[in-house]
Amino acid sequence: MKIAVPKERRPGESRVAISPDVVRKFKGLGFEVTVEKGAGAGASFTDAAYKEAGAALARDERTALKGADVVLKVRRPILDGGEAKSELAMMKKGAILIGHLEAVANKSDVAAYAKAGITAFAMELMPRISRAQSMDVLSSQSNLAGYRAVLDAAAEFGRAFPMMMTAAGTVAPAKVFVMGVGVAGLQAIATAKRLGAVVTATDVRPATKEQVESLGAKFLEVDAEAEKEAETEGGYAKEMSDDYKKKQAEAVRAHIKNQDIVITTALIPGRPAPVLVTEAMVKDMKPGSVIVDLAVEAGGNCPLSERGRVVVKHGVKLVGHDNVPSRIAEDASQLYAKNLLNFITPLVDGETKSLAIDWEDEIITGTLLTRAGKVIHPLLIG
Ligand code: NAI
Repeated sequence: MKIAVPKERRPGESRVAISPDVVRKFKGLGFEVTVEKGAGAGASFTDAAYKEAGAALARDERTALKGADVVLKVRRPILDGGEAKSELAMMKKGAILIGHLEAVANKSDVAAYAKAGITAFAMELMPRISRAQSMDVLSSQSNLAGYRAVLDAAAEFGRAFPMMMTAAGTVAPAKVFVMGVGVAGLQAIATAKRLGAVVTATDVRPATKEQVESLGAKFLEVDAEAEKEAETEGGYAKEMSDDYKKKQAEAVRAHIKNQDIVITTALIPGRPAPVLVTEAMVKDMKPGSVIVDLAVEAGGNCPLSERGRVVVKHGVKLVGHDNVPSRIAEDASQLYAKNLLNFITPLVDGETKSLAIDWEDEIITGTLLTRAGKVIHPLLIG
């Protein structure tokens, strides 16, 4: 069984789908591992480290993918550019493709995987059950994005985070407000607290209040009654009523005036990100304040933030970096690679050292997009 890992080719992508540590683990499971030369450079993994871990190095992508049974990717393969450039065309029929394939937003790509006879698994569709926690790429990457968002804010902010009592005077602590307390938001709170900021946070899901308080931050509650209905069975947020949105806007507007840093992370699966910070609220903020919009790729929680850019509007800095996990590529790759290892390990038959997939398992049915030439995922058919 051969696993192949090519270099990621999408612009701005520094991560890689395997780390030298994980190469060793796959070797232990009985796989051969081939890594394209230079694949780990953006994440500080050298070719020598991969080689030492037991991987074969391929001089180019075509050589790496040739004959591979399993192809590990971070981002979805590039399909355009004709046969010569299509990463899909380099994979053998019957190969298994595993990655963060952004399947729901790219249905025609999924159709192409089926046509090419590829068995594709979309890691972003991993069910949120406790057995799958160690395979959850959304969590591992969001956690790092939440951390990085605070550091990005600190770097753009013209003042310090902690309170400092110096001979020249006292520096007041920064006030940080985190909107959306999922995986990224919780890590943003923890990081901002560690840096010494005074932290408040809000979310529509009531369970988050206790989580916020356990991190030593204060919770800004909007409407406890409406929030009882805010969570889906899968643990995600629902879109809220217009009445709730109005109440939320009023509470946030009053609060945000006194904040220095706002970190927004609010997402609703399958829908555009909710607008939480309006232009009027930005105008109310003090000059030099910073907003980091982690939802910018889903349309943004603030309409003034711009994807892939840091801009100043009404005296406020709006940080809209694209692909924040890639800004902390070494850890992001290490954890992503572990997620893939944890997903694949139970699929391996220890005796025959080959894949023995239970096609009925919830983790498989939740992530499997295509099989035997057909698109089969319920979110993509019908
Ligand atoms: P997410 O990235 O989809 O959304 C981020 C946050 O934004 C969520 O907390 C959501 O409630 C909040 N939000 C949405 N609309 C909002 C609004 N209008 N105003 C304020 N906040 C709003 O969520 P994420 O981070 O992926 O996690 C969601 C939940 O799933 C969490 O409870 C987490 O603990 C749980 N989870 C469970 C896992 C498992 O059991 N395997 C793995 C990972 C997360």
